[in-house]
Amino acid sequence: MDYFAIEEKALKIIEKYTGAHYPPTTLPTFEFDAEKCTHCKACAQACPTSCIQWDEEKKMPYATGYKGMELACISCNTCEAVCPANCIRVRGEYRVVYGRYKTPDDKQGEMTPPMPFGDKDLNRDFKDIEKDLTETEKVIYRRRSIRLFKDKPVPKELIHRIIEAARFAPSAGNNQPWKFVVVTNRDLIDKVDKQCAKVLDAIKWMYAGSGTWRKVAVSLTSYLQVNNMDQRPIPAIQKVHQSGGSITWGAPVLIHILKDVRGISNPDLDTGFAAHNLVLAAHSLGLGTCYIGFIASAIKYLPWLKKEIGIEYPYDLVTSVCVGYPKGKLDNPVYRGQVPVEWIE
Ligand SMILES: Cc1cc2nc3c(=O)[nH]c(=O)nc-3n(C[C@H](O)[C@H](O)[C@H](O)COP(=O)(O)O)c2cc1C
Repeated sequence: MDYFAIEEKALKIIEKYTGAHYPPTTLPTFEFDAEKCTHCKACAQACPTSCIQWDEEKKMPYATGYKGMELACISCNTCEAVCPANCIRVRGEYRVVYGRYKTPDDKQGEMTPPMPFGDKDLNRDFKDIEKDLTETEKVIYRRRSIRLFKDKPVPKELIHRIIEAARFAPSAGNNQPWKFVVVTNRDLIDKVDKQCAKVLDAIKWMYAGSGTWRKVAVSLTSYLQVNNMDQRPIPAIQKVHQSGGSITWGAPVLIHILKDVRGISNPDLDTGFAAHNLVLAAHSLGLGTCYIGFIASAIKYLPWLKKEIGIEYPYDLVTSVCVGYPKGKLDNPVYRGQVPVEWIE
C-alpha cells in the first residue's frame, strides 16, 4: 500500500473542506509618508475593502481590519496607485496560508513591479521601461480598477467604440455567445445598487457575525457553493454599506455582460475575453472601468430585477462593468505577486 499517496490524498481532502471561515493569512504592511501627503483622501475613497481609512485628527490614512480580519486588505494596491504624492508603499501580500481558498504554494517572494524585460530592479521607475513598450502593453500594465468617477456623462459614440472592441474578441468556434446591456439611466443603476446591496448585506451578516453556528454555516455553504464563500468580499461589502450602498461607485454607465447559455464549449470564458477587450479599449480612450462582480452574485436572488434589466433566457449575467471618466489620473502600474510558471523545453 502506498501510504504517502494515501496521506497526500487525505491532506488534499482536509485542505479542500476546511479553513473556509476566516482562514489564516499573511498580510501586507503599509508605509505612509505623512510629510508628503496632500490630504486628498483618494486612497481611502478608492480602497475597495474599507481597509484604508482616513484619520481626520492626524490628517493621514491608516490601515484597519474588519470583524474577524486583522487587516481588510486584498493586496490590490489601489491606495498606492491612486496616491498623487507617492506617499503610500505597500509591502508583502495578502495570501491564504491554509484551507479551501489557499493561494498557490509557488507564489513566493516579494511582489514585483511589471518586469517584461526580465530585469530584477524592484525600485526602478515604470517610466524607465515604458518607452520600450507597445501601446497595448502600456494599457495592460497601467490599467487599474477605477472607483473614483467624475460626474460627467460618457458620449454614446465612446460606449459604442468599446462595445465594438468586445465584439471582435475570440470565442470558441466563433460562436460569439454574448450580449451587452448598457444602462445609463441613473434611476435604474441606483435601483440595482440598492437592491443588490441588501442581498450582500445579508451575506455579510451571515459571514461576519459572531457565534459557532456561523462558522459551521459558512463551511457548509462553502462546500455547496465552491469558490463563493471567501472572506475577501466581506470588507468590500462593508465598504458598499459605508458609501451609502453604491456598488457601482457612482459611475455614469453600467454595462452588463451576458453570456448565451447555449454557447458551445465555455461561454463564460468567451464572454470574459469580450469583457476585457471592452475594458482595455476603454482605458486606452482615457475612460476608467471597474468590474462589478457583486451584481451577478446578488441578482441571482432577485429574478424580478433580472427581468427588469433584460437578463432572460437564453442569456445570463456573467459580470458587469462600470464605466466613466476617472477623477484624477488613476491608471498606474502596481506591484503584483509572483506567478507560478513552468517551462517545458
Ligand atoms: C470578475 C471580477 C469581479 C470583480 N468585482 C468587483 C466588485 O464587485 N467591486 C469592485 O470594487 N471591484 C471588483 N473587481 C475588481 C478587483 O477587485 C480588481 O480587479 C483586483 O483587486 C485587482 O485590481 P486592479 O483591477 O486594479 O488590477 C472585480 C474584478 C473581477 C475580475
